[in-house]
Amino acid sequence: MPDFDSQPALGDLDRTTDLAALELWRVTHLGRKSELMTALSGLGQVAAEERREAGQRLNAAKRELEGAYEARRSELSQQTLAGQMESERIDVTLPGRPLQRGYSHPTIAVIQEICGLFRDIGFQIIEGPEVEWEHYNFTMLNIPPEHPARDLTDTFWITDKMLLRTHTSPNQIRAMERVGQPPIRVLVPGRCYRNEATDASHESTFFQIEGLMVDDRTTMADMKGVLSYMARGLFGQQARTRFRCDYFPFVEPGAEMSVSCGQCNGTGCRMCKYTGWLEILGCGMVHPDVLRGVDIDPAKYSGWAFGLGVERIAILKYGVDDIRLFQQNDPRFLRQVG
Ligand code: PHE
Repeated sequence: MPDFDSQPALGDLDRTTDLAALELWRVTHLGRKSELMTALSGLGQVAAEERREAGQRLNAAKRELEGAYEARRSELSQQTLAGQMESERIDVTLPGRPLQRGYSHPTIAVIQEICGLFRDIGFQIIEGPEVEWEHYNFTMLNIPPEHPARDLTDTFWITDKMLLRTHTSPNQIRAMERVGQPPIRVLVPGRCYRNEATDASHESTFFQIEGLMVDDRTTMADMKGVLSYMARGLFGQQARTRFRCDYFPFVEPGAEMSVSCGQCNGTGCRMCKYTGWLEILGCGMVHPDVLRGVDIDPAKYSGWAFGLGVERIAILKYGVDDIRLFQQNDPRFLRQVG
């Protein structure tokens, strides 16, 4: 009569430590070629009177092993799951990584601030090309061919007629040509280029903002009022302005505007070179010849224009000491003033 002792198999089962070992155990002890299965399939050879009892014992052993196997299997799978959960544990109470917040480049921040001030008083913000015709950059602005502003050392020429604009003033012409007849109130921010050596206060690439107003009776008083409004908006209500004669071929009369030094409130310091004033822009009444050039009758209409250096404003507002920092894009600088 075939006999079977389940104890060694149960002992082996206790020693399985993972699911792979358990599967090996199953094949060994419950698989088709296992001792138990061999005995079960050999029952036919057992004498009839013993067969019943032998079958009962072998089947009981089989149930015992199967039950123990199932129990071990669920034990091991739970251990595995617990291990997996432990290794993937996340601490949901940890604070999140802070998102890096963007900030404006100081040049752009100043442009946006000035655009906002002029938008509030009805100016239209437009843009023009950085690659410009000599015609717009010089000729139409009353800068004759022999004028020193055309000198090769100041201009990046592309062809003998095309150049990188040296100021935003060509947009005075473009705006007047495009609009046709007054009233015209435009503001034109943009990048400009000059072919010159760089130092702490000169860059070959910089930004300007051009302003132009043309109407049937606009005067220099309007210009002074609007530019003083801008200065107060930029530097605070206590800012004062001063206009002095200056020369630009496309305005007559021409002027430069200064604001009272915010550092010393006009009493004199290093920032304002002990003058109490900081020059920030060129301006003037649009020259009659410039108006005539775009078919606007200077007997009927007058205009005024200004051009300011954006970095110069940013330097004064944020106390920066080197204009080259604006192009270098060092985040340590940008983060401080943006
Ligand atoms: N375009 C002049 C410059 O670049 C500034 C200016 C603009 C002066 C408009 C008068 C009127 O210096």
